[in-house]
Amino acid sequence: MQVTVQQALVLAARRLTEAGLDGAARDARLLMAHVLQIDASRITLVAPEALDTGAQTAFDTCITRRCAREPVSHILGRRSFYGHDFTVTPDVLDPRPETEVLIAEALKKPFSSVLDLGVGSGAIVLSLLAEQPLAKGQGSDLSAKALAVAQSNADQLGLSSRVRFSQSDWFENITGLFDLIVSNPPYIALDEMPDLSPELSFEPRMALTDEADGLQAYRIITAGALAHLRPRGRILLEIGPTQGSAVADMLLAQGFKAVRIVPDLDGRDRIVCAVAPHSNSIL
Ligand SMILES: C[S@@+](CC[C@H](N)C(=O)[O-])C[C@H]1O[C@@H](n2cnc3c(N)ncnc32)[C@H](O)[C@@H]1O
Repeated sequence: MQVTVQQALVLAARRLTEAGLDGAARDARLLMAHVLQIDASRITLVAPEALDTGAQTAFDTCITRRCAREPVSHILGRRSFYGHDFTVTPDVLDPRPETEVLIAEALKKPFSSVLDLGVGSGAIVLSLLAEQPLAKGQGSDLSAKALAVAQSNADQLGLSSRVRFSQSDWFENITGLFDLIVSNPPYIALDEMPDLSPELSFEPRMALTDEADGLQAYRIITAGALAHLRPRGRILLEIGPTQGSAVADMLLAQGFKAVRIVPDLDGRDRIVCAVAPHSNSIL
């Protein structure tokens, strides 16, 4: 039976709601726009038109995947982050809107070199390089598959000449000094994993948890950072909302100055920022 775009949207929203999803109408529109290969803002214009059989089947498949709690970004294969489109696959974390706070904070001061530890899709380092046209960046990750996604995003955004990617267990294979170190490491504690939303089961486990107390990566990163920062270089770490003071204490213990916790747009602690001293005695 042929249906209009509007009728298909209503049926899909009903299926998504019955599957327990919030934001059913929004997801249905995004997925319909994806199937019709139009911008989501044009859905209302095409709503009265008939949906052909091929598009109807493709849309049904998308809705079935979403009912199984697969994230919309994984079904679309992309996510918009800080004004750019990033390819997202099951090998990388779906970049989160909260992480845009880290970008805004990092851009408050100029930098010519940036290191992104745990680069994933490349969302952080590539967004920073896009805004800072003379800067160069390095992104590292333990996951070779994530690095391949980051490289393809760099290619798509025309930033490959200013960034390089390397496989590394945090600082293990990193050499050189940077003006800025950024990281959004896995920070979910092992005992919090069973309570997470079903969508997170589609993301790489190593992007979510350290399999410990959620603070392991911060211990390693804060301990190694001064050896890779220029004097007065900055470090910005994304954190879970309860981890601010623990991570701030780690940075203070290493001799960092101007340690601050920055909230996200919901008012939850989200970023810890600090500045390396004038001269790094460790160097
Ligand atoms: C929370 S995700 C962040 C991804 C991306 N930076 C973002 O903000 O969307 C954490 C990333 O850290 C990487 N990772 C986990 N353990 C690591 C390790 N020991 N060394 C380097 N990267 C690691 C994961 O593969 C994942 O890409």
